Amino acid sequence: MPTPYDAGTGSNPLLSVNDLSVTFRKSRGSIRRTQLTIKAADRVTFEIRESEIVSLVGESGSGKTTVARSVMGLQAASQGSIRYRGAEVLGRKGSSLRDYWREVQMIYQDPFESLDPGRSVQTIISTSIRNLTGERDNDAIRRKVITLLEEMELDPADVLNKYPHQLSGGQRQRVNIARALASDPKLILADEPITMLDAAQKMNILRLLRRLQSKRRLSILLVTHDLASARVMSQRILVMYLGRLVEVGATETVMSRPHHPYVELILQSTPRLRRNYEVQAEGGRALSSIEQSEDVTKGCAFQPRCRYSTSICQTTEPELTEKSSGHSAACHNPLNVS
Ligand SMILES: Nc1ncnc2c1ncn2[C@@H]1O[C@H](COP(=O)(O)OP(=O)(O)OP(=O)(O)O)[C@@H](O)[C@H]1O
Ligand SMILES: [Mg+2]
Repeated sequence: MPTPYDAGTGSNPLLSVNDLSVTFRKSRGSIRRTQLTIKAADRVTFEIRESEIVSLVGESGSGKTTVARSVMGLQAASQGSIRYRGAEVLGRKGSSLRDYWREVQMIYQDPFESLDPGRSVQTIISTSIRNLTGERDNDAIRRKVITLLEEMELDPADVLNKYPHQLSGGQRQRVNIARALASDPKLILADEPITMLDAAQKMNILRLLRRLQSKRRLSILLVTHDLASARVMSQRILVMYLGRLVEVGATETVMSRPHHPYVELILQSTPRLRRNYEVQAEGGRALSSIEQSEDVTKGCAFQPRCRYSTSICQTTEPELTEKSSGHSAACHNPLNVS
């Protein structure tokens, strides 16, 4: 069944995530501890096509990393399917998972944590080449390491023998990206790749990802809590709220004419973006907290924070459906529909 948001496009998806649900057990309270089951991902459905950059945005705890880890085959799901070029990813182990990782790689938020502090840049990248591609010829591996570093706009002579702590934050993230590209993957899952960097480096890393995408015809799932990065980077955007996708569409359309009140709220509270989205409510509203939604067991999870809510929102959970051409939202009272 085609998903509502890509009606009319026609090109084959590289990745199809269908009805993905992931639950965790969590205990709460220090005196009377109660066990909660949280739905970190709740019936998440989306596609990524070849050479497409898609952003997955949402505030902390909304389930972005859970979705990315599931796509990577690192997180078991309680329901749903993840298909890469038509083949199921969930449940893969051993060599089948390694074969998949040749095509799909992840870049993590903290390059310091994800790089082995006791290994030089050369060892880090060559190990990745060896493990993922099976290449054994040391000269070929060394040449590949140098090519990758140059592609990352790093000077191989300067960084090859350095250890992670001897690099700047931006250089570390470039090494991390080089390592992820060691097997020439087709899909990159970038989980908050610029969060730990200073302002100048943030833009440089985003530019580098854009260049790599266009040169290598990569598909990228950019996980970010920052709508501004999503805007400069991606053609399409997926907005997540407490495990559910609440709005999906072309980035520019979602930013200029959001259907979901949550997206309106984030746009109003992001000064850089507010210029482009006229605040309709006088003074807007302070960004209330996601915690207000955590205890909602019935109806729409966003309802406690929503100024458009009506009685149906308290009783019936809205499904993600198309509200305007190619643009879906999970809302009973969508905004900007003519
Ligand atoms: N291994 C785990 N065990 C228990 N709960 C978990 C686990 N991983 C994630 N969670 C919970 O699942 C929910 C979603 O977490 P996740 O890390 O996917 O969110 P996120 O959107 O990536 O947040 P952030 O922006 O802070 O990285 C949170 O409530 C989190 O506490
Ligand atoms: Mg995360």
